[in-house]
Amino acid sequence: MRKKIVAGNWKMNLLPNEANQLFHEISENTNSNCQVYAFVPGIYLAELASKNQKNVFVGAQNAYYEDFGAFTGEISMKQIKANRAKAVLVGHSERRSVFLESNELLKLKVDAALKEGLDVFFCCGETLDERESNQQEEVILKQLQDSLFHLSEEEMKNVVIAYEPVWAIGTGKTASKEQANEVHQFIRKELTSKYGENCANSVSILYGGSCNPSNAKDLFSQSDIDGGLIGGASLKSKDFLEIQNSF
Ligand code: 13P
Repeated sequence: MRKKIVAGNWKMNLLPNEANQLFHEISENTNSNCQVYAFVPGIYLAELASKNQKNVFVGAQNAYYEDFGAFTGEISMKQIKANRAKAVLVGHSERRSVFLESNELLKLKVDAALKEGLDVFFCCGETLDERESNQQEEVILKQLQDSLFHLSEEEMKNVVIAYEPVWAIGTGKTASKEQANEVHQFIRKELTSKYGENCANSVSILYGGSCNPSNAKDLFSQSDIDGGLIGGASLKSKDFLEIQNSF
């Protein structure tokens, strides 16, 4: 059985009191029909992760692959784990496009995260140009092959894949449920040919990109969509909780 997951990516938003308030509202009201994660800004991670993570797991939006050293401004997987993070996002499109993170770097991050026992939420997805030239499958396959498919079947158990079409992120333009499910099925087919059916059927694949309370139900009812990675709508507890209740 695949896990149903709703994860919030707060990105670089919220001041301390707002972050505490939002986390409080979510963890007080989350029910158990799915697993819930909050990927919070690094500066709030230690405090929020020190709270009871029974209902809401706290994750980092990014971390570096070396454990310690002269890497000014970076935080390591080892440090976030020691501060009780449960998970980390790897390969978000904003990390790829704004911070120029390559598939090769992301592979090192995936390995470092798994070594620490963190769950990896690996993000993949095509740009608008790539979608318009019908290259989405090729692009996503390369992202998976270069950064993820070196893992063993055992290691894949701690990986969640998030399909986030870049053209749908923060644009209000959601992929249709059919468009999204088609890509999820493609990812699962590739997982099957690499790892076999058992493994492929146990990996949760989330959709991300302008997912909100009004489209979540449609998206989550698709055969291969196991939940969502939510940006903007995760910043309002009411919307985020409503999305969780869309299963
Ligand atoms: P939006 O939900 O704001 O489009 O962001 C999606 C996203 O990037 C989640 O990681």
